[in-house]
Amino acid sequence: MVTANTSAQFSETEVREEAERLLKRLMHIECDSRRSWNLESCLEIAPLTLEINQLKKETGSVVLAHSYVEPEIIYGVADFSGDSYMLSVKAKESQANRIVFSGVVFMAETAKILSPEAEVVVPDHRSGCSLADSLTGEQLREMKKLYPDAAVVCYINSTADVKSECDVCVTSSNVYKIIASLPQKQILFVPDRLMAENIRIEMKKRGIEKDIVSSDGTCIVHDQFDSNLIAEARDKFPGLKVVSHPECTRTITEKSDYVGSTGGMMQYVKGTEAPYFMMLTECGLVERIEVEAPEKRFISGCKLCPYMKMNSLEKIRDVLIQPRPDQVVELNEELRLKALSSIDRMFELAEGQTHQPSKGC
Ligand code: 13P
Ligand code: SF4
Repeated sequence: MVTANTSAQFSETEVREEAERLLKRLMHIECDSRRSWNLESCLEIAPLTLEINQLKKETGSVVLAHSYVEPEIIYGVADFSGDSYMLSVKAKESQANRIVFSGVVFMAETAKILSPEAEVVVPDHRSGCSLADSLTGEQLREMKKLYPDAAVVCYINSTADVKSECDVCVTSSNVYKIIASLPQKQILFVPDRLMAENIRIEMKKRGIEKDIVSSDGTCIVHDQFDSNLIAEARDKFPGLKVVSHPECTRTITEKSDYVGSTGGMMQYVKGTEAPYFMMLTECGLVERIEVEAPEKRFISGCKLCPYMKMNSLEKIRDVLIQPRPDQVVELNEELRLKALSSIDRMFELAEGQTHQPSKGC
């Protein structure tokens, strides 16, 4: 258990300097529907970001933040922010006593699988994910009986129990590469039915014969986009580039200029000249690009993930002071090791080389 000193006091100068540091990044955000970022709003949160950064030092903690969480977390207190794959690599490499995972629970579980000696905590244990919550390990064990010859591939948006039943785990940044490289023709891909459809299309495009079967989960954010909006937007905004995530329906991905992980989408927009972009993903990603590439222009289209938005600076501060039992990720060691082998296989196949085994092997 890691403990911390609580009563932080900061001078007016320290608070003002912190607010100015925050403002330099957050002032570019136009997409945030909760508040506008100005010196006043930055002054409000500055004591909290100062306190969190002090608590991190005192307790030897790091904050890993997914790009979908609030920008004051990403630019105020996160040590690393990015997509699921990048954050898994950071968790694996981490030497911290404690990892505060600001994202959703399956991501924190993945961090615990990869960094078992660290105390891994979540700001809010209710931050689930409709994909991870759609399939249990028991249900997957039953499905596997129906497809005994299939390679079992799980999307990282799944529970540790589901990962422990898989041959290989994938993220949206490596799913096509890994599935294309597997020797089996039949693939049991769980838990995202819409991503399974996108994999079918991509394999066909590449001339690779695969029979993809799937369970029935969907992302409650990415399955919501209406493809009619794309045609309307393209008429109104000539030169528009449409960007989407492979958790979207095929009616969206087939009409998009780029489809990829949150990290891939960000890289694409930063590196592409276009008058406007339409981001069919979670709004946090738009805010990140507004901060890091303020010259880019967006037309509305993004949606909010209620689970990612359960993260807040206050909850991060509180979990750093004293985590409640429901905020600490605990895993059975046998299950962890089984889940680890599917993640290690992902690293090996994604990076096309033999990977150093993860801690705890
Ligand atoms: P990425 O791996 O692309 O970050 O996606 C995670 C996610 O939950 C998207 O909804
Ligand atoms: Fe899960 Fe969708 Fe939220 Fe990503 S955006 S965490 S897939 S519910």
